[in-house]
Amino acid sequence: MNKKIIIFDTTLRDGEQALQASLNVHAKIQIALALERMGIDIIEVGFPISSPGDFKSIQSISKIIKNSKICSLARCLPKDIDVAAESMQSAKNFRIHLFLGTSNLHISSKLKKNFDEIKDMAVSSIKRAKKYTDDIEFSCEDAGRTSLDNLCNIVETVISAGVNTINIPDTVGYTTPTQFKNIIDTLFHRVTNIDQAIVSVHCHNDLGMAVGNSISAVEAGARQIEGTINGLGERAGNTALEEVVMALNIHKKSLHTFTNINFKEIYKTSKIVSQFCNMPVSSNKAIVGKNAFSHSSGIHQDGVLKNRENYEIIDPISIGLNNCKLNLTSRSGRAAVEYRMKEMGYHHYDYNLNELYIDFLKLADKKGRVFDYDLEALAFFKKQQNIEEYFKLEYFDVQSKLSGLSVASIVLMCGSKINIQKSTTNNGPVDAIYQALSKATLYPILLKKFNLVANSEGEDALGKVDIVVQYKSRNFHGVGLATDIIEASAQAMVNAFNYIWKSTQVDKELEKLHK
Ligand code: KIV
Ligand code: ZN
Repeated sequence: MNKKIIIFDTTLRDGEQALQASLNVHAKIQIALALERMGIDIIEVGFPISSPGDFKSIQSISKIIKNSKICSLARCLPKDIDVAAESMQSAKNFRIHLFLGTSNLHISSKLKKNFDEIKDMAVSSIKRAKKYTDDIEFSCEDAGRTSLDNLCNIVETVISAGVNTINIPDTVGYTTPTQFKNIIDTLFHRVTNIDQAIVSVHCHNDLGMAVGNSISAVEAGARQIEGTINGLGERAGNTALEEVVMALNIHKKSLHTFTNINFKEIYKTSKIVSQFCNMPVSSNKAIVGKNAFSHSSGIHQDGVLKNRENYEIIDPISIGLNNCKLNLTSRSGRAAVEYRMKEMGYHHYDYNLNELYIDFLKLADKKGRVFDYDLEALAFFKKQQNIEEYFKLEYFDVQSKLSGLSVASIVLMCGSKINIQKSTTNNGPVDAIYQALSKATLYPILLKKFNLVANSEGEDALGKVDIVVQYKSRNFHGVGLATDIIEASAQAMVNAFNYIWKSTQVDKELEKLHK
């Protein structure tokens, strides 16, 4: 009989950990909804003890997600477990995911304990978590470098203590597929109670083997795979879920497996994650890269035209990639825009049609023709920027001279007050505008990242600027989108200032509460 492989997504936890600036609640909800539509079985939504923001996001997601199971991460510490359970109170059912280092390296140099103490911590934490839920996952952190004797020992111990999912992470992406398969095989042969838990794997990609290792583990009997969309995650990332689920699907006959994944949602989910996380997908990325289904050489093009399968193992339509070309210009109506969005796989609840249409018309007037990637950028840009606009850029003017001098003037609405500022620098027009904006807001910030990408090709491409600024040792993210790159840069800074303003309001509320 074919076995179901449970797909566990950790984009919002392990993936988010690797971003330069945290995702806001709104972005996390949109990603969680996309994952649910994709048929993900378990969504790890965060590590609630790590920050009040993460805790709040988990609370909100727990109220909204109905079909996927919600899971939160906790160290083997009483407070972590209590907070994890509290954050998911509104969920219909939830999982607590405990983790603890089991390799000699982690035990001695990170945790400063011995193996017996680790086992005691694990058992008492499982007991505590069991007060809140029957669904407990335990991860042996750095299992890839844990001795097989110790790994079998702790796995048997935690299963006896009552965990129902035992996760084997290759935390530093150290193993090869043969070595990792051997670890899973050994657990099945030596752990006497292994049949009482689902064996899960969580592979990092430091040697580029995360997907291969996960598939090898399935061959050895693993029933849950953990990973992230687009392979986001610490360092070189995690197992890319879109790759692993397609590999499972293509080889389902030899692997005797199936998943709950709705393949048609894959491409769209990848786009949503990439847009909200500001993590572009490389063109040659398997399954979701721009070139994954494009054929360049004459021989390949000829072969594909004769029979797609000559050079394609996956039908792009099966993952929701639609190549229909509809010429969208300023003469196109709302219905055409809505139709095209639907063709691309977006539902009316993914974006706001009224706002999109207004932005579409402005862009169509400037560019003439609006392409799919423009529509996607406009639709998700608004959502990314979804924040109360306390600061609004009403006007700007910059002049740059060959001598190196740049002069910027701005008019910024600060709430209902108008603020006019001027700034002169030797560091170019963007810096001149940034200095004028800083004078208006009075926020002393440090620009930590400035990234400009053309969202399409050609001279009229939409420029997308994403920046990270530091204010009082916290990082804030800002995005700006415009055909004029100076305007996009200014809008990105205004967006970041709005997030800073919002956080100062939250801090004030918290201060009041604690008085
Ligand atoms: O990589 C890792 O070991 C983890 C655990 C918390 C599962 O992310
Ligand atoms: Zn990890």
